[in-house]
Amino acid sequence: MTARLNIVPFVSVDHMMKLVLAIGVERFLTDLAEYIEEDFRRWALFDKTPRVASHSIDGVIELMPTSDGRLYGFKYVNGHPKNTRDGRQTVTAFGVLADVGNGYPMLLSEMTILTALRTAATSAVAAKYLAPKGAECMAIIGNGAQSEFQALAFKALLGVNRLRLYDIDPAATRKCADNLAGLGFDITSSASAHAAVEGAHIITTVTADKQCATILTDNMVGSGVHINAVGGDCPGKTELHRDILLRSQIFVEYTPQTRIEGEIQQLAADHPVVELWEVMTGKTSVRADSRAVTLFDSVGFATEDFSALRYVRDQLADTGFYEELDLLADPDEPRDLFGMLLRAANND
Ligand SMILES: NC(=O)c1ccc[n+]([C@@H]2O[C@H](COP(=O)([O-])OP(=O)(O)OC[C@H]3O[C@@H](n4cnc5c(N)ncnc54)[C@H](O)[C@@H]3O)[C@@H](O)[C@H]2O)c1
Repeated sequence: MTARLNIVPFVSVDHMMKLVLAIGVERFLTDLAEYIEEDFRRWALFDKTPRVASHSIDGVIELMPTSDGRLYGFKYVNGHPKNTRDGRQTVTAFGVLADVGNGYPMLLSEMTILTALRTAATSAVAAKYLAPKGAECMAIIGNGAQSEFQALAFKALLGVNRLRLYDIDPAATRKCADNLAGLGFDITSSASAHAAVEGAHIITTVTADKQCATILTDNMVGSGVHINAVGGDCPGKTELHRDILLRSQIFVEYTPQTRIEGEIQQLAADHPVVELWEVMTGKTSVRADSRAVTLFDSVGFATEDFSALRYVRDQLADTGFYEELDLLADPDEPRDLFGMLLRAANND
């Protein structure tokens, strides 16, 4: 990789796709999951803050910063459920990784695809600890952009091989089933959310709606099930009926952010929850009772994006899937920024 100070490696969407395909989607998800888990295990080192959200009638734009003291990362991400109606993604993102020592960005990357991968990898890492042992059947409610990534992460990390799909838009379910055909799943397309959850050991909800929806009601959740609730991730945007929360063991990424954005915004501010790092480091044990319902109240936290950027950066030297971006001004004499501008005029 270049040592020129003006250059920052940039991973475009095209290069990200080449990188993911060269590594293989499932291997990418498994490797990425290791980076995510590694960073959750170093939880105390990280700067942590609820993400900075700018809400509007149509959606939200968020900045997600964090640092481990050596590297700094942030992601820009939006969430606009109405976007798909005019051909846009609900979620798009890009992010930066920087050197804390000198403040220089080390990587600029697309993160729309990377967010889908990291969200799925995080869900699967959580489920590795929380889901019932031997879980192999998952319902996915909401069959949009994130859904196939979720399916493949659960296959790669947990061995899930049966899927029960449901979306209010049957075209989305068809798309999801077609994309996953031949990838090792036994797939059932369901006529309702009720039908989809029948017999599932894991229920993933990954719908997009800018309101408090009720994708799952209490009677739909049997004992021993693990719920991976991904789509409720903003104030006033939830997917589960409150009664489900009241009888679940609830696991979150970073409690202060999830209290604002997650399913638990429906509960009292002191309702007990466990953070994922506590489970991963063995501080808290889970599933003492095999009939317990576990819930991962996923909203997406900055360390996961940091891990994802770190993983992508580690793949660049070997794969070359990046371009050199002339992003940083680099005058011959660092204080002569204006002189550099003058010389550029003379060079024309
Ligand atoms: N937790 C996280 O880390 C994280 C990360 C990324 C995205 N998300 C959230 O995940 C959700 C899905 O994102 P996406 O990019 O797949 O969106 P998308 O718009 O591509 O897909 C959402 C799907 O949900 C379906 N849907 C809406 N209401 C439904 C209902 N009541 N029942 C069944 N299906 C329903 C839609 O028809 C659509 O197919 C969004 O809410 C997004 O904000 C969360």
